[in-house]
Amino acid sequence: VDVLAVASEMHPLVKTGGLADVVGALPAALAPYGVRVTTILPGYPAVLAALPATRTVARYADLFGGPARVLRATLGDTRLLVLDAPLHFQRDGSLYGDPSGREWPDNWQRFAALSSVAADIAGGAIKGYAPDLVHAHDWQAALTLAYVRHGRRPDLPTVATIHNLAFQGRFDADIFPALGLPWSAFATDGVEYYGGVGYLKAGLYYADAITTVSPAYADEILTPTHGMGLEGLLASRRGRLHGILNGIDTAEWDAATDRHVPVHYGPRGLAERRRNRRALEKRFGIAPGDGPLFAVVSRLTWQKGMDILADEIDDLVAMGGRLAVLGSGDRGIEGAMLDAAARHRGKVGVITGYDESLSHLVQAGADALLIPSRFEPCGLTQLYALRYGCIPVVAHTGGLGDTVIDANQAALAAGVATGVVHDPGTREALHSGIHRTIALYRERETWATMQRAGMRADFSWRQSAARYAALYHSLLQERTPA
Ligand code: ADP
Ligand code: GLC
Repeated sequence: VDVLAVASEMHPLVKTGGLADVVGALPAALAPYGVRVTTILPGYPAVLAALPATRTVARYADLFGGPARVLRATLGDTRLLVLDAPLHFQRDGSLYGDPSGREWPDNWQRFAALSSVAADIAGGAIKGYAPDLVHAHDWQAALTLAYVRHGRRPDLPTVATIHNLAFQGRFDADIFPALGLPWSAFATDGVEYYGGVGYLKAGLYYADAITTVSPAYADEILTPTHGMGLEGLLASRRGRLHGILNGIDTAEWDAATDRHVPVHYGPRGLAERRRNRRALEKRFGIAPGDGPLFAVVSRLTWQKGMDILADEIDDLVAMGGRLAVLGSGDRGIEGAMLDAAARHRGKVGVITGYDESLSHLVQAGADALLIPSRFEPCGLTQLYALRYGCIPVVAHTGGLGDTVIDANQAALAAGVATGVVHDPGTREALHSGIHRTIALYRERETWATMQRAGMRADFSWRQSAARYAALYHSLLQERTPA
């Protein structure tokens, strides 16, 4: 099976979050199942700079206002197509906004460009390449499925994956004529969404199958609380919706070999983690102490409950905890975190920004990782934490609840607990989660048993890749005329 994956980020080329990790890891994970993935990405400066030899395989004189070409390249085993469209993607700032954090006003054009080119390719625009199926990730790629249905190979099987329903790509109706779709597509049975155009909505409408990144989130998004306006459409397509848990790249995240970590260790050498913790404390200006070193590796946003945590830091310190925060995002939350660090010198350290290498050291050295999300489609940092013997302290929502086993009495007695799970959304619940974690930390044997249980758990891509492969095969059969 030849799959064309469409995405706006891919680790290790460009990343703002877990989407990149998943798009980066899936192709290799799918290879053993006979699935060959080619991924099309926007030609951001970082992507173009990382490409070795490329070949131009398609050209556009005018793609949404500027010239463009499609480059083909391989990077190790990764097959890439890159949309080099300087007007749209050669910019300073982040992938989606300007250096001050404002979203680019022409994002509708940038990702319509990506999506329409992906559909052209699916329709045969590149000589010698005819994918069997198109798989679009999140709203930035979702419009591809509209272009496919209204394009040259309308019967091509398609999959849309929701990594986060909070980001929907909603735009005013007046962009519609510029999209180049037939007028009939501006309808409820099409791309129309609450009077405007909805890119993610369109993908969810046109897709043969919809997947999201954990079983729990697949259920949650059918409710008004988490459906964010799309619960009706999703419910009507319920039979086509699958929750497939994300895996992690176990070669990249292996404490026995991790090049970003000073002291390597395995489940039997947990004492070694102490030296990594010392290195981590130094990086964050935190003094050694008796209580646990909590940590955060996260976007600092409302979704992640980071405002709740910021309010809770004084208590965390009063209870004997220390805290290292690596993250960036909401300016107000960043400020609150930095204020807390100033109030608690030597106990709380904050590094704002994005640092892939440091994120590995945090997992290898911190005692516990805090993830108090209000909602969480899957979450990857708790999986990295489990694998590194760092105890995840998580809110019971989405993929967090699917992957962490709470240290309640029964689970402790059975030796299967891997973390601390608390209710989402309130400071009281987070407070009691932190309180329980500090108490557990004092029971050294219990703590070590939890660490080892987490490290033994299998969060590799093996099982989930098999499910994606099975889904692809079933869609191909469905679309193949008997
Ligand atoms: P989301 O995609 O919602 O941000 P995930 O947990 O799925 O959440 O993925 C976040 C990814 O981004 C993880 O790989 C995590 O390690 C990484 N990450 C988040 N913030 C930072 C940061 N400030 N520095 C380095 N890595 C980060
Ligand atoms: C999104 C979600 C996160 C998920 C990631 C990868 O960014 O917020 O929970 O792990 O996508 O699927």
